[in-house]
Amino acid sequence: MSIDLPFFKDEHRMLREMVAEFSDEVLAPRARELDESGEFPWENFKAMAELGLTGIHIPEEYGGMGMDLTAFAIAMEEVARGCGSTALTLAAHLSLCCYPIYRFGTEEQKQKYLPKLCSGEWLGAFGLSEPQAGSDAAATQTRAVREGDYYVINGTKMWMTNGGSADVMVITAKTSDAPGTKGITSFILEKGFAGITHGKDEDKLGLRASQTSQIFLENVKVPVENRLGEEGEGFRNFMTTLDSGRVIIGAMAVGLARAAFERALKYAKERSAFGRPIAGFDTIRDYLAEMATRIEASQLLVYHAAYLRDKGEKATKECAMAKYFASENTLWVCHKAIQIHGGYGYTKEYEVERIYRDAKLCTIGEGTSEIQRLVIGREVIGELPQFAELEGVA
Ligand code: CAA
Repeated sequence: MSIDLPFFKDEHRMLREMVAEFSDEVLAPRARELDESGEFPWENFKAMAELGLTGIHIPEEYGGMGMDLTAFAIAMEEVARGCGSTALTLAAHLSLCCYPIYRFGTEEQKQKYLPKLCSGEWLGAFGLSEPQAGSDAAATQTRAVREGDYYVINGTKMWMTNGGSADVMVITAKTSDAPGTKGITSFILEKGFAGITHGKDEDKLGLRASQTSQIFLENVKVPVENRLGEEGEGFRNFMTTLDSGRVIIGAMAVGLARAAFERALKYAKERSAFGRPIAGFDTIRDYLAEMATRIEASQLLVYHAAYLRDKGEKATKECAMAKYFASENTLWVCHKAIQIHGGYGYTKEYEVERIYRDAKLCTIGEGTSEIQRLVIGREVIGELPQFAELEGVA
C-alpha cells in the first residue's frame, strides 16, 4: 500500500525501500515489547540516526541529509508502520526541535545545535502546551523576563514528547503583555540549564514507549543568544513549525493505518468461516476496499501538502487537511482491522489493538482534529462580511 506519485524522485523511492526494510526488520519486531515495557526507544533512535533519519530534511551543511519534507513524510510513514512510539519520538525531535532551529535560528544557533541533533547524539523536544494552554496556545503563562544578557524563565510545560530525555528543547514564553499572540517568544534550552526539572511522565493509552513529560522551569537563566527569532515572533514561528509538523503526523497516521490494514488483510485471507476464507465474504471485502481507499486518499492529502511546502508555499489549509483526514481515517481503519479479527483483534496477540491505541494520538497531538477543522474552516471561509454591509445588501 505504499504510494508512488509523479513528483517523487528516485531518491524518494530509494529512501522508501531502505526505511521500509529497516522498519520490517528492526522496528516492527521490537514494537510489542516496547509497548509492554514503556521504555524509551533509545536503541531505535540510535539506529535511525545511523541511517541519517534524525536529520533527514535539514541541509547537509548542518549535519542533515539535505532532503525535503516529502522525504521526511515517506520515512515517517514507513517508521510508523513498524513502531508508533518510535515514529512520534522522531517526529518531535525533527519537526518540532530541529526544524524551528533551522528555519528561525541564527547561523551560530544552527552551527551549535543542528549537527549534534541531526547525528542523533542529542535528542530534541518542543514545549508549547501548558496545563492551562493546550488548544488555546496563545494562553501561555510561562514568562521570560530579560535581565541584562539573560532571560529568566518561569513556568510549566506539558505534553512534551521526549521532554524528560531531551538534550535540547525549543520552548515558548511570554516576554511582554502585548495583546493576543504578540508577546510570545521562542527560546532554545539545554538540558543542563539550572532550574529545569522533569515532572511525571504521562501513563498513556498508546504510544507507550514515547515519552510525554511535564517540565518545570524555575528561574532558568537563558542567555539572550538562545532566543529563537525576535521577541514577539514566537507565535507565528511555531504556527509555521506546526504546519509542517502536521503533515508529518498525517504521514505517521498513514503508516499506522497501513500496519493495521496489512494485518487485517493477512488475517482475512487465512481465517476461514463457514467453509471459506473470510475475505471471500462481501462484508469483509467491502471493509478492506473501504480501508484501502481511505488510506490512499490520506496519502494523497499528505503528499500534496508536503509537495506544496517543498515548493515554498505556506499551505496551512492543506497541512491541516492532511493531518485531520489521515488521523480520523486511521482510527476508522484500525477499528475495522479489529472487527475483521473478531475476538482475536481485541487481544494483544494480533497487534491491531496496539496500533489502534497508538493511532488515537494522531487525532490529538500537534493540534486536535477540532483545531484542524477550525484552521480549515477559517481558510475556506476567509473574511466574513461585516453585519452592517450585509444589512446594506438586504
Ligand atoms: N503560519 C504562520 N502564521 C500564522 C499561522 C500559520 N499557520 N496561523 C496563524 N498565524 C499568525 C496569524 O497570521 C496571526 O499573526 P498576526 O497577529 O501578525 O496577524 C497570529 O499568528 C495569530 O493567529 P490567530 O489569530 O489565528 O491565533 P489564535 O489565537 O486564534 O489561534 C489556533 C489559532 C489555530 C487555534 C492555534 O492556537 C492552534 O493551532 N492551536 C493548537 C495548538 C497545538 O497544535 N498544540 C499542540 C502542540 S504539540 C505539543 O505541545 C506537544 C508535543 O511535543 C508534540
